Amino acid sequence: MTTSRTVEYSQTTITELMIPSYANFGGKIHGGILLSLMDKVAYACASKHAGAYVVTVSVDEVNFMQPIEVGELLSLHASINYVGKSSMVVGIKVFAENVMTGSKKHTNTSYFTMVAKDAEGKPTQVPALVLGNEDQVRRCLEAINRKRLKQDFQKEFEMERGKLSQKDSRIWLENERVILVDWA
Ligand SMILES: CC(C)(COP(=O)(O)OP(=O)(O)OC[C@H]1O[C@@H](n2cnc3c(N)ncnc32)[C@H](O)[C@@H]1OP(=O)(O)O)[C@@H](O)C(=O)NCCC(=O)NCCS
Repeated sequence: MTTSRTVEYSQTTITELMIPSYANFGGKIHGGILLSLMDKVAYACASKHAGAYVVTVSVDEVNFMQPIEVGELLSLHASINYVGKSSMVVGIKVFAENVMTGSKKHTNTSYFTMVAKDAEGKPTQVPALVLGNEDQVRRCLEAINRKRLKQDFQKEFEMERGKLSQKDSRIWLENERVILVDWA
């Protein structure tokens, strides 16, 4: 089995023309179309690094910063930023190009965690990641930090969740646009 692979080995780009059937009622591209393309490029990149079948486990930071128009050419660039034992963090950067003017806009960046599976469907070890330049090291360190912060957030959120059922925390609702009916 291959024990390590470079970031470049699995870097993947998908380019897709935004056709009218991808549009929502407002004439812009559906967020779901973009998510599906991001999942596709994440799969292609991660399965190439792993040399195995992979599944999507979690998606971080999907912010739709700018709308995508029908007729624009979308490029989705994917790279492995970090590998655990069976998991891989794939960074995805999306650009939309107006083919008439050649102008390009960065529409979003996101991070997909994918896990490699063996023939029995169990998580399986992936090759180590060879980091060959400063950018690759920075992205890897950012992924480690994001993972740590996410774990801390999850622990804290679980602790806070128990407290939310208490009556006095309902005071938080006072500044929200909600109407509390008396169902008791
Ligand atoms: C995620 C999944 C593989 C975990 O399986 P498991 O038997 O519990 O295995 P483990 O706990 O050893 O986790 C495997 C890896 O997933 C990672 N993982 C699990 N849950 C995670 C989460 N919420 N976020 C990020 N990584 C996660 C673990 O950290 C571990 O990484 P590592 O091997 O690099 O240390 C399993 O729950 C699964 O197959 N989920 C469904 C995935 C799927 O079908 N996706 C498509 C949805 S349509």
